[in-house]
Amino acid sequence: MIRPDIHPHDGILVAKNLVKVFGKRTVLDNVSLAIEEGKTTVIIGTSGCGKTVFMKHLIVLERPTEGQVFFRCNRIDDLRPRQLAGIRTQFGFCFQMGALFDSLTVFENIIFPIQQHRKITDYKALDELVKHKLALVGMDGYQNQYPASLSGGQKKRVSLARAIALDPTVIFYDEPTTGLDPVTSDVINELILKLKQELKVTSIVVTHDMKSAYKIADRIVMFYHGKIIADGNADHIRNHPNDLVQQFIEGRVSEADLAALKLGGTKYQTQFLPEDFK
Ligand SMILES: Nc1ncnc2c1ncn2[C@@H]1O[C@H](COP(=O)(O)OP(=O)(O)OP(=O)(O)O)[C@@H](O)[C@H]1O
Ligand SMILES: [Mg+2]
Repeated sequence: MIRPDIHPHDGILVAKNLVKVFGKRTVLDNVSLAIEEGKTTVIIGTSGCGKTVFMKHLIVLERPTEGQVFFRCNRIDDLRPRQLAGIRTQFGFCFQMGALFDSLTVFENIIFPIQQHRKITDYKALDELVKHKLALVGMDGYQNQYPASLSGGQKKRVSLARAIALDPTVIFYDEPTTGLDPVTSDVINELILKLKQELKVTSIVVTHDMKSAYKIADRIVMFYHGKIIADGNADHIRNHPNDLVQQFIEGRVSEADLAALKLGGTKYQTQFLPEDFK
């Protein structure tokens, strides 16, 4: 069901008629979406369709060309950096490229967001907090290790622990299972489910991994060229009549994409950005 109109009170986070233009390119083309509190919303779509850009708008790491973003009915897309910092303490990020800081230990990585927002005086309480967060993701005991000594799955788990350090109300995950083997991916899926149940958080997850999407999603939203083309629960998506949706979930390449590849077209090529290399 794709709603024609949307209101700030329709969800905990609401994107209303978002348009984002980079240069001559429209990356978000009038996107409206209300994120329901306490639910897991999964965003799917082919590479370059605007998923990460959309997510960045929800946390105001990008500002829209047109449209608005509301958090708990308050407009946030036009806030100043200082006001935003306060709101962002309620958000936890587990980002595609936002890996751990290699020069910091696991402990230091986890307290990083806390230090940004509070002056720490009670170190014993901090030890307890880090222990608790790491225990939630099954990584207690790794406090003094450096990221270089961890496997990919362990790093993702630590970045999840960091995402929940400030007890967020909303957690954003950008491709949490990418690059992981199926078993480790499932560990991450279980963790996302567990954090939802135990911390009652609202989760927004961008993924290409349909197995993960079906397992964790209360709702799946599919983007295509900067627009939402499907929105519903797992069954709705599985049985969706739109061929673009079926092609994506079955991992089939479309005739148009195939033709573009044969022509050596660059239309669907994802462009690298400086931040991709950070
Ligand atoms: N800061 C920017 N400046 C210019 N173009 C950008 C910027 N950020 C993203 N884009 C472009 O916007 C489009 C959508 O990017 P986005 O990162 O949202 O894709 P995505 O759906 O997350 O893809 P993937 O699945 O590969 O991560 C891409 O073509 C990308 O090159
Ligand atoms: Mg992305």
